Amino acid sequence: MKAVIRSIVHATPEVRILELAAADGGALPSYEPGAHLDVTLPGGITRQYSLCCAVPSPERYRIAVKREPESRGGSSWLHDVAAEGAQIEIGTPRNAFALVDEAPSHLLFAGGIGITPVLSMAHALARRAVPFRLAVFARAAGLVPFADELEGPELRPFSSVHCALGPEETGERIDALLAAAPDGTHVYACGPAAFMDAVTTRAVARFGADAVHTESFGAPAPAAGDRPFVLRLLQSGREVAVPADRSALACLQDAGVDIESSCEVGVCGTCLTRVRGGEADHRDSYLTTAERAGCFLPCVSRARTLVLEIDL
Ligand code: FES
Repeated sequence: MKAVIRSIVHATPEVRILELAAADGGALPSYEPGAHLDVTLPGGITRQYSLCCAVPSPERYRIAVKREPESRGGSSWLHDVAAEGAQIEIGTPRNAFALVDEAPSHLLFAGGIGITPVLSMAHALARRAVPFRLAVFARAAGLVPFADELEGPELRPFSSVHCALGPEETGERIDALLAAAPDGTHVYACGPAAFMDAVTTRAVARFGADAVHTESFGAPAPAAGDRPFVLRLLQSGREVAVPADRSALACLQDAGVDIESSCEVGVCGTCLTRVRGGEADHRDSYLTTAERAGCFLPCVSRARTLVLEIDL
């Protein structure tokens, strides 16, 4: 649907907050905390941004966009070109990062712009009077988006802000927050890869993998130890080699294989492909543990075996 940019606020030197409304003045589709929105910009680039309204409303969506030095075209347009009144295309909100309603308490970790999905979660939990804590980490105090809301009466009693810490101190703060959380807590993390790794490694050790939930919209960097593998395409009988430093999706596309994609960061599910043999190395934020059996998302996921047989 078409949306119009109603307002733009400079939240920090590197983050803009945009309010969107339906271009025809109608109601926007509803969504749950943690949901994100596909935003298609002039030129056809589609990017995903978390919806971060304090209170969801059918009249407006709110997104926050950090200017990325390595922008793939989305954040630079929204920072340098987008103006109030401009029209953009948006999708229907989707949620691959939902709160687990039956959890007795929740611990939300945000690194930098990763605050966007957990902010709406925190507001919802505060309104529902469900036990939670929100921990926000940033490079400097002046770079905390939504600092005013964190200081407001709804969130302040449950929030802490941690600025300008090195990796060791960050790990110590995470350890302390996890240690203080009651048994059964579910942990949610969004932010840069190194921050997410620091949280998830510790949180999984404390609460188990099923209680840890993550979301990231950055293009994943190759991980140390990534190995090349071969995709065997069962329908066509072809084989496609995937080097250690390239994504399976890019290699399939280069080989002329017809496969749809959108986000290319493992959050939308568009490139979902059936796996018939071998073992996938899942790196997406879209599939649940149960859903991962028998499929993978080649934009981010890789293979644990030398050959992965897929239904293409
Ligand atoms: S293109 Fe979105 S998950 Fe792969």
